[in-house]
Amino acid sequence: MTATSVTSLTVSTRVYEGQKPGTSGLRKAVKVFQQEHYTENFVQAILHALGDQLTGCTLVVGGDGRFYGREAVAKIIRIAAANGVGKLIVGQNGILSTPAVSTIIRKYKTQGGIVLTASHNPGGPDADFGIKFNCDNGGPAPDNVTNKIYELTKTLQSYKIIPDIGVDIDKVQSTSVEVDGRPFTVDIIDSVNDYVELMKEIFDFASIRKLLQGNADKPAFKVLINSMNGVTGPYVKRIFSTELGVDDTCLVNIKPLEDFGGLHPDPNLTYAKDLVNAMKEGPYDFGAAFDGDGDRNMILGKKAFFVTPSDSLAVLAANLKLIPYFQKTGVKGYARSMPTAAAVDRVAAKDGVKFFEVPTGWKYFGNLMDVGDLSICGEESFGTGSDHIREKDGIWACLAWLNVIAGRGKSVEDILLDHWKVYGRNFFTRYDYENCDSASADKMMQSIEALIQKPDFIGRKLQREGKEYVVKQADNYSYTDPVDGSKATKQGLRILFADGSRIIFRLSGTGSSGATIRMYIDSYENDPAIFVKDAQLVLKPLINIALELTELRQHTGRDAPTVIT
Ligand code: G6P
Ligand code: ZN
Repeated sequence: MTATSVTSLTVSTRVYEGQKPGTSGLRKAVKVFQQEHYTENFVQAILHALGDQLTGCTLVVGGDGRFYGREAVAKIIRIAAANGVGKLIVGQNGILSTPAVSTIIRKYKTQGGIVLTASHNPGGPDADFGIKFNCDNGGPAPDNVTNKIYELTKTLQSYKIIPDIGVDIDKVQSTSVEVDGRPFTVDIIDSVNDYVELMKEIFDFASIRKLLQGNADKPAFKVLINSMNGVTGPYVKRIFSTELGVDDTCLVNIKPLEDFGGLHPDPNLTYAKDLVNAMKEGPYDFGAAFDGDGDRNMILGKKAFFVTPSDSLAVLAANLKLIPYFQKTGVKGYARSMPTAAAVDRVAAKDGVKFFEVPTGWKYFGNLMDVGDLSICGEESFGTGSDHIREKDGIWACLAWLNVIAGRGKSVEDILLDHWKVYGRNFFTRYDYENCDSASADKMMQSIEALIQKPDFIGRKLQREGKEYVVKQADNYSYTDPVDGSKATKQGLRILFADGSRIIFRLSGTGSSGATIRMYIDSYENDPAIFVKDAQLVLKPLINIALELTELRQHTGRDAPTVIT
């Protein structure tokens, strides 16, 4: 039946310290993954962790096209075959966006998938790589699974592998071999088809097409889409050019490159500067950029009007009924991560819809979606998504906006202004201090924690530039999952004020070296005269209070953040 028959080998290995998955999988410098047995060990641990499910299972494999991805795919094929996996579904050229992996896991009901990405971190031989395991619901593995994988890496003595079976991953095809007497198949699939099909079921493509094409009475709504040389290129090309008829000149950086062309593929005001500038100068009504693996998004209106991710979530929530998918499924609930500004909370309260706050990390939304309590959710870190899959989804967010704009017939800016008039505005900013000394960052977090836990901290009045904030509550955030009762502790230091404003400090869980300190500032205003003001100006008093209270400058030696969003 099968063309070839091979026998697996057992290779002795040595334990590597530190193979502990972070917020989103194991993310390290490429050079770390290139060490002898390093990648093999981690892949073996992922497969071991599948336990009873391993033999004969189907897994999806693909990544964002970054450097080392092709080697990793080849290794995974050989190791999976030797471990009794029945079938691998692999994206052509090793390419699958993170949302596409989630789509395919769910559509073909596989036991999970392995995503090869370091998301928005730079790529190339001197940059980062990552391996992430997603479970059978299509979402990132929860803590109990990643902890199990980590425990296994600490005692691993060997891994199983087969000799190269020479599958050409650039060609859509199916290859079967017999491994130790068991059948093993590798299906190389078109990277884009399944995802595009799903988007066409969710959105009203006909009305989006009309919006983008214009007619005799209405000029075309001009979009500028920037894939930042990441994985979304082929998806953008198919959806925006083939399906929606957008001119190719409006689709930029759409060829996935191993080093993202030197870009830091993170769609924010700092790293997506070329989109911001093109929007400022150009005739475009709408701009969007996506990160390396396609799960993050940034949305801009005319003249680079910036939609904060927190507002993006709130606006989409308030307009969900314009999207065919939600007309069918109904609106089940809204959620945001803890540091995300509380704009969507107000939509939930007004609409009488269930609302949840979870720790940072998309994995915390999964259970709520699985039990049918959650339709749409988002994070300040440029992630927006829904229960159509179990990952955040950049292109989905962009299409959702276009669907809403087509329905409302208004500009991005007018939609925001209308929204603030109804709900008020949560001004938000995040200051990132990248690559800080880890020990100093830890020390700073400890000293802030000690400060906010003093009994007299509650009730304190903090003043600056004519503003006064009264501390109502302060803690290190913890969360109990309402579905499975699992607990996540130490998820960020929170200072909550009587008027709903908040200061939050967290250490990033996605960096690959040093520490990144994140300071989040959220402040609510309901005076329409303030809505159009610059967030940095409005938030200045609270920002200064936060910096002084925590002595951040003294602890970090930094006068200014690396990135402001
Ligand atoms: C990834 C996760 C997000 C999370 C973000 C936080 O993108 O998928 O769910 O919000 O990391 O990153 P941080 O660096 O703040 O830990
Ligand atoms: Zn990403």
